[in-house]
Amino acid sequence: MKTGALIIGLGAALPSRRLTNQELEKLVDTSDEWITQRTGIKERRIVGPGESNSKLAVKAARQALERAGISPEELDLIIVGTLTPDYLMPSVAVLVQKELGAHRAGAFDLSATCSGFIYGLAVADQFVRVDPERKILVIGSEVLSKKVNWQDRTTCVLFGDGAGAAVVTGSYNENRGLLSAHLHADGSLWHLLTLKGCGSLYPPCGDELPLEEYYIRMQGREVFKNAVRAMETVALEALSANDLSPEDIDLVVPHQANIRIIEYLRERLGLPREKVFVNLHKYGNTSAASIPIALAEAQEEGRLNPGDLVLMVAFGGGFTWASALMRW
Ligand code: COA
Repeated sequence: MKTGALIIGLGAALPSRRLTNQELEKLVDTSDEWITQRTGIKERRIVGPGESNSKLAVKAARQALERAGISPEELDLIIVGTLTPDYLMPSVAVLVQKELGAHRAGAFDLSATCSGFIYGLAVADQFVRVDPERKILVIGSEVLSKKVNWQDRTTCVLFGDGAGAAVVTGSYNENRGLLSAHLHADGSLWHLLTLKGCGSLYPPCGDELPLEEYYIRMQGREVFKNAVRAMETVALEALSANDLSPEDIDLVVPHQANIRIIEYLRERLGLPREKVFVNLHKYGNTSAASIPIALAEAQEEGRLNPGDLVLMVAFGGGFTWASALMRW
């Protein structure tokens, strides 16, 4: 039987260092009140000495594997969604492969910004539809604190570091697993959210590019407008493709960027607060890591149970946006 991807184990890893809004008040002209009201974020986690993207990814992966009851040698593939790899080469995925000792697994990074986890899940789904025995690790891992301009109050208050991981395999049950994934992009709006420096066009130490372009830059209001529209549309697309309606959903796990974006989505779907998972007050926007971290926490809180209908929705730079509907 060829059925879709099922998540059989989840894990998360967050740096121990907490950076609060009060601490940010000392760095830039901002306030806890502004950040809380405009974003919903109270604190975020920041890597310290000895921590890195790949180390967080390995920690999250180990937890997911243990919970799935799968050994690293059983893995066929490792996909890491990230925009902040340790190095441009090699990928985070091969560092994870080495550290886990996942000798049989292929490994690659996937660049789809904040939609990276859902894009990765959609790729894994294609593999397990061909062979449901395949075991795939899909990770979202970011160290955004190293790519944030700590003098730019319009971005530095938003982002945080962390990793989340999911072990995926075939479901062997038509009523469980990934029902659909919808992936979208609009490259014509790439300039609204960028990290230009250190690619091959503008290598480090070049003097053509202003220093601030070596950090994340965002036209926040424009990104916001596009995010609310796209997340609603792609959520409804998932429901309509499966002949389901919002009231069928047990839990929405949205990308954690801004509480106002999440609230807008919740209101458009007509859902009560308890059906929408929120943890961005603790971690800020962790880009590709936000959905797998949220899934892992939702499960720990007993909010993800077999048979539940779970809707994941993401939006990020590119722009990219995506939804995944899974019967848990
Ligand atoms: N502290 C205090 N004031 C701040 C501030 C901060 N950290 N950041 C911006 N401001 C100021 C601005 O300078 C502006 O002042 P002005 O009116 O004097 O020019 C004012 O607050 C309003 O700025 P604006 O950018 O319009 O605020 P906003 O309500 O749109 O909120 C974001 C800004 C970034 C929180 C919001 O636009 C957002 O969340 N955007 C989307 C982010 C996102 O979804 N990313 C997803 C992809 S990763």
